[in-house]
Amino acid sequence: MKVGVFDSGIGGLTVVKSLLEHQFFEEIIYFGDTARVPYGIKDKNTIIRYAIEAVEFFKNFELDLIIVACNTVSAYALQEMRENSSCPVVGVVEAGALATCNALTCKDSNILIIGTKATVNSKAYEKELLALGYKNLDAKATGLFVPLVEEEIYDGEMIDAAFKHYFKDLKTPDALVLGCTHFPLISDALQSYFGEKTKLIHSGNAIAEQLEKEFVFTKRYPSPEIKFFASENPEALRNIARKWLGIEI
Ligand code: DGL
Repeated sequence: MKVGVFDSGIGGLTVVKSLLEHQFFEEIIYFGDTARVPYGIKDKNTIIRYAIEAVEFFKNFELDLIIVACNTVSAYALQEMRENSSCPVVGVVEAGALATCNALTCKDSNILIIGTKATVNSKAYEKELLALGYKNLDAKATGLFVPLVEEEIYDGEMIDAAFKHYFKDLKTPDALVLGCTHFPLISDALQSYFGEKTKLIHSGNAIAEQLEKEFVFTKRYPSPEIKFFASENPEALRNIARKWLGIEI
C-alpha cells in the first residue's frame, strides 16, 4: 500500500508518527502546504481550493489511499477531495469522533474539542459526535497553540499562559479532542493541566484505529520509504521530520 498524507504544513507529521508505529504502509508520500499554512484562519472556499490542488499533486504517485491529517481540511474539504481523487480519501475528523466514542463509556460524558478557528466554526466534530449520541459538547478555538508548537515550545510559561487564557472558565472534560495536527506535541502539558481522568484523543492514533478496522493489512512494513514534499522550504520540513520522527532521510 502506498499512501499520501496531506497537511497544511508540518503538523501532519504527528499522524505520520502513528502510521510508522503501526507499520501499515510500504511507501508514504507526505505533502505539507508550508507556503500557505495556516489554513485554520482561512475561509471555506480557499481551504477547498487548496485541498483540491493537493489531490492534483498526489496524482503523480499512483496512491492507494490519501489520509488528510489536517483537521481543518478534513472539516471542510473531504467531499470535494473524494470527488477529485481516483483513490479513497480518509480524514481525521470522522476517525477522531469514533475514537472518542471508543474511549468513553457514557454518552453523558463531557467532551471538549479544541482546534483552529476554522475547525471549530465548522462544527464538524460536533456533527459527528451528536450523531454518535453525545450531547455534552463544548468547543474552543485555541489557535495560539499552533505557532507555539511551530516554535518547538511544548511546555513552560508560555504554554501555561495560553492554557490559562483559553481554559480558565472551562470545567474539566471527560475527553479532550485534539482537533489540530499540532496539539499532540503538547499532549503531556494538556494532560497535566486537565489531570489523568481526562482522555486525550489524538488524530494520528484515531486514524490508525480506523485503518485497522476498515482495511486488511496482510503485511507490515517496519522500514517504509518516506518522501517529504512541501510547497515551500522542503528542507525545513525534512529537518523537523528527522527530529520529530527520529528517522534518517
Ligand atoms: N493542520 C492544521 C489543522 O490540523 C493546523 C495548522 C493550520 O492552521 O493550518 O487544523
